[in-house]
Amino acid sequence: MTTLRLNQGPAATRVLGVGSYQPERIVTNDELSEVMDTNDQWIRDRVGIVERRFAEKDELLVDMAVAAGINALADAGVEPSEVDTVIVPNCTMPSPIPNAAAQVADRIGIKAAGAFDLNAACAGFCYGLGVASDLIRSGSAGKVLVIGAEKLTDVVDPGDRSTAIIFADGAGAAVVGPSDEPGIGPVAWGSAGDLVETIHMREHRFLFQEGQAVFRWATTQIAPIAFKALELAGVQPSEVDVLIPHQANLRIVEAIAKKLRAGGARADMIVADDIKFSGNTSSASIPMALDHMRKAGTVNSGDVVLMVGFGAGLSYAGQVVICP
Ligand code: UT7
Repeated sequence: MTTLRLNQGPAATRVLGVGSYQPERIVTNDELSEVMDTNDQWIRDRVGIVERRFAEKDELLVDMAVAAGINALADAGVEPSEVDTVIVPNCTMPSPIPNAAAQVADRIGIKAAGAFDLNAACAGFCYGLGVASDLIRSGSAGKVLVIGAEKLTDVVDPGDRSTAIIFADGAGAAVVGPSDEPGIGPVAWGSAGDLVETIHMREHRFLFQEGQAVFRWATTQIAPIAFKALELAGVQPSEVDVLIPHQANLRIVEAIAKKLRAGGARADMIVADDIKFSGNTSSASIPMALDHMRKAGTVNSGDVVLMVGFGAGLSYAGQVVICP
């Protein structure tokens, strides 16, 4: 009988560096209220967004992913030649073929990379990070570039006030590699396919969401996933320095933080509020928030970061990460 040889990788992984990219064009709430029935106060109060970034017509998801990926590699001090796998979590490529990842790898100069897109919508980055970490631990990959990238303005009806005020464009990336000490905890993930109809693009080419239904689900079902990620990593809620939920709506972010604090997280735990100036960028929101917080000095190397993503599918995933 033939016995197959199996790969074996390092026991632990960590995030080696992060980076992000946002388009130049800033869009204020007042600008949106010129084209739809909304206003600055409503958006600030109900969603928490002050402004967001929209890509120009000729600036593509792949362009933004390349820029974020290059920034993350520079932050990690890793050369493109050291990376062998590129994962691009996204849900807004203009068509399923070709994927984004192979083009992104080629443009960054990562030769013959294993390259694939991953669609878990707004949970995509946490799914991608979990897959990257396990690919390395299994010996299938050496260093992996994970880039959450979205051009949501391509799929949002510019006149639909329930989506057009929320969603925005951008990319956020992390370089993942082997580590002596564990820097990425096990991923807690899952889905609620029975709620698939609450966010979809089926009947028309624009994104549709039942805002209130998703809001209710996120504010009740996501905190338990965050606790599960802590349990899997053997981390107490009181040890969490930074909470980065997907930046869907500031009220959802605050509801998750409140539940974590009720379950033992510290009052001084820092909670990401990047949505204020970035909007909801789906799979890009978590790495983008981490990058912005590191640059602002609100998050430091060695901090215990709890990430949790959630969105269409409905899909969710979270894990504990040690900040690079
Ligand atoms: O990232 C992927 C996952 N997605 C999410 O997590 C999104 C979750 N959902 C939400 O964030 C919120 O449900 C929305 C931001 C989409 C909507 O906020 P809401 O607080 O649930 O508003 P609502 O739909 O309950 O509407 C409340 C009121 C209504 O007016 P009346 O009937 O009370 O007079 C709406 O017509 O606000 C009105 N409204 C608006 N007013 C100004 C709804 N949208 C707007 C708007 N501007 N953009």
